[in-house]
Amino acid sequence: MKPHLICHMLSPLDGRLHVESWAKEGSTLYDAMLAEYGRLHTKFNADAWLAGTTTMTEFAKGKAPKDKTTKDKAAKAARRDAAPPRPWHLADPSARHFAIAIDRKARLHWDKPVADEGHVVVVLASSVSDDHLAELMDAGVSYLVMPGDDIDLTRMLNDLGQRLALKTVLLEGGARMNGAFLRAGLVDEISLLLCPAIDGTSGSPAIFEAGDDGFKDSVKLELMSADAVKAGAVHVRYKVVK
Ligand SMILES: NC(=O)c1ccc[n+]([C@@H]2O[C@H](COP(=O)([O-])OP(=O)(O)OC[C@H]3O[C@@H](n4cnc5c(N)ncnc54)[C@H](OP(=O)(O)O)[C@@H]3O)[C@@H](O)[C@H]2O)c1
Repeated sequence: MKPHLICHMLSPLDGRLHVESWAKEGSTLYDAMLAEYGRLHTKFNADAWLAGTTTMTEFAKGKAPKDKTTKDKAAKAARRDAAPPRPWHLADPSARHFAIAIDRKARLHWDKPVADEGHVVVVLASSVSDDHLAELMDAGVSYLVMPGDDIDLTRMLNDLGQRLALKTVLLEGGARMNGAFLRAGLVDEISLLLCPAIDGTSGSPAIFEAGDDGFKDSVKLELMSADAVKAGAVHVRYKVVK
């Protein structure tokens, strides 16, 4: 079954995505807003959080293997007893809290299987090599290989929901990823920490992007709550009406 998906974001009054663009790293505002965002994240007590490659780069600190030649790869494959399992590998059956990384082009290299206290589960496209899957297994990371080049987000969420018994997932992606989940009708709720700041940078991305057409009035929202929280910020929650 599809888990309840909450898109949890923070933005200044003009809805922009990049925190560093409206608050100086290490400033009082920056620290206060990130702490509040983290507090709300924890309060949701979700089973997993989910993001794309850019966000997950912060946690994936492993190095790309050097053996890039076909000969090296063939030798490595020959040393393996069996090809890594597809489509699914669960590295830690005792894990109860997960960090789901969508990395369809297999760009992330992990040195540990944990991101922000969640056991890492990487979602990849079918073109991923056995070498990369073996690298993930060696790092203790779980993975799901999806059919085709484009990841079917509905199928992915249903699949992971079932395999990991996920009830609630926090979507904490960038503009395109949040836009794609919203477009697919998968977002059940938007949780926004509205911060007392204005970005104003020309061309800076917003927390949702959905191409030239955008959403116009195709997304119906119902206010659930609006609470003044720390340092002049407001936490607003909207239900996405389906
Ligand atoms: N303000 C906030 O609260 C907040 C929260 C989280 C993150 N951020 C910021 O957001 C930025 C980027 O975050 P992000 O990497 O999580 O997400 P993103 O930039 O929206 O998306 C990039 C990743 O998502 C994949 N992707 C995009 N659309 C997809 C689709 N339709 N189907 C499958 N995969 C899709 C991309 O794959 P391909 O590369 O293969 O295209 C890539 O892996 C960061 O700079 C971060 O600081 C802000």
